[in-house]
Amino acid sequence: MKKNDIGVIGLAVMGENLILNIESKGFSVSIYNRTAQKVSQLLETRARGKNIQGAYSLEEFVDQLERPRKVMLLVKAGDAVEDLINQIIPLLEPGDIIIDGGNSNYLDTIRRTELVESKGLLYIGTGVSGGEEGALRGPSIMPGGSKQAWPHVKPIFQAIAAKVDGSPCCDWVGDNGSGHYVKMIHNGIEYGDIQLICEAYHLMRDLLDMDSGEIASKFAYWNQTDLSSFLIEITADILNYKNENGIYEVDCILDRAGHKGTGIWTGVTALELGVPLTLICESVFSRILSSMKDDRVNASKVITKAAPVFNGDKNAFIDDIGKALLASKIVSYAQGFELLKAASASYGWELDYGSIALMWRGGCIIRSVFLGTIKEAFERDPGLKNLMLALYFRQKLEQSLPSWRRVASTAILNGIPAPAFCSALAYFDGYTCANLPANLLQAMRDYFGAHLYERIDAPRGQFFHTNWTGKGGTTTAAPPS
Ligand code: 6PG
Repeated sequence: MKKNDIGVIGLAVMGENLILNIESKGFSVSIYNRTAQKVSQLLETRARGKNIQGAYSLEEFVDQLERPRKVMLLVKAGDAVEDLINQIIPLLEPGDIIIDGGNSNYLDTIRRTELVESKGLLYIGTGVSGGEEGALRGPSIMPGGSKQAWPHVKPIFQAIAAKVDGSPCCDWVGDNGSGHYVKMIHNGIEYGDIQLICEAYHLMRDLLDMDSGEIASKFAYWNQTDLSSFLIEITADILNYKNENGIYEVDCILDRAGHKGTGIWTGVTALELGVPLTLICESVFSRILSSMKDDRVNASKVITKAAPVFNGDKNAFIDDIGKALLASKIVSYAQGFELLKAASASYGWELDYGSIALMWRGGCIIRSVFLGTIKEAFERDPGLKNLMLALYFRQKLEQSLPSWRRVASTAILNGIPAPAFCSALAYFDGYTCANLPANLLQAMRDYFGAHLYERIDAPRGQFFHTNWTGKGGTTTAAPPS
């Protein structure tokens, strides 16, 4: 009997839809789930009459697969992945491939690649983005791990991935945990985009006193501009949605944000690698602050502050918000790509930034026209120092600057929190400031701890100490390496 092209374990939303997508592209699929009933249920419903075969034990599942076997796990990140890998390793043969398609932490993927390769098998950790709809119709797929596995998996992955101008939003990312790292940064950027949209909404709702429908029309308009993206598009849809009582549903939703951890991981790696990822980190903190609902309600009663008042030109300010959105978004992506560069250097991944931008151009949650421009910028200059310096982005930042400053200052003056707009602007001002006050900072460190400093009139890397009080000894800290 002919064996199947690929096997998928895990029949939750992503698994089920990805299986149907794979099959629709002409590949045969074996399916397995810990709860056997889910297998028969799928076979009797959406998989009926399709080239999809059920298995009721891991042994049966493995036996149904063509060699080298391709076993894709679409289960919850963490213990479930770990347990399945341990159970399936003894059933596989040299050259077989285990693929983890969940939102696993890249450090786990680095470790698992090593473990699986040490058993003579191959491992892929791949980001898959696009939610339910993407999984079925074409997600963005970001695979990394054992390079020898790629030629076996490529025809399937590139067939099922979203396409932009005929190019698949899927390519090989790099060694070990790089695929999951890139997906994690995608999620961090997703947090940033969402936060910026929410801050724009907040200003329009509470400062300009606009209702959801009016705000929706602004997002619908922005979706026709440089801001055109999936998240802006769905924001317009969401804001326009009225429930059975004729009330905008968004106005009925409690303002406590959830999150599953990828934003926190992004912040942690940024701090570890020394990359100022300010906007995404602010977005994570904003979600955490939002979850402190009771504390916020209490503080709003205890502490008095003036209500927002807007006396200016409303339409002009809405235009300013659109420009601030674009400028802040440029900063967020610039920071995200800076982090990718630092990780690539630190882990030796040799990431291709143009190719990553293309993978994110379609299929995924952050898909946008803007990513096409990022791809072009990296293609034109693969060594681009910072995205903000590329001509298109530099011009947009310069053109948006007065609006951006008006939005940030108006938000501050009116007590409307806009941490993403404001931190993006602070980063921009810091990055473009040739003379920061870190001279004083270094002096303080040297004063209280003899931590040494460099001088403007001496070569970099030469360190000095001053006995600031006349009382200190001559012992200093070791010069930084
Ligand atoms: C995707 C998404 C997805 C993510 C959710 C929820 O690319 O399809 O990024 O992978 O899990 O968006 O993330 P939070 O619960 O952390 O918001």
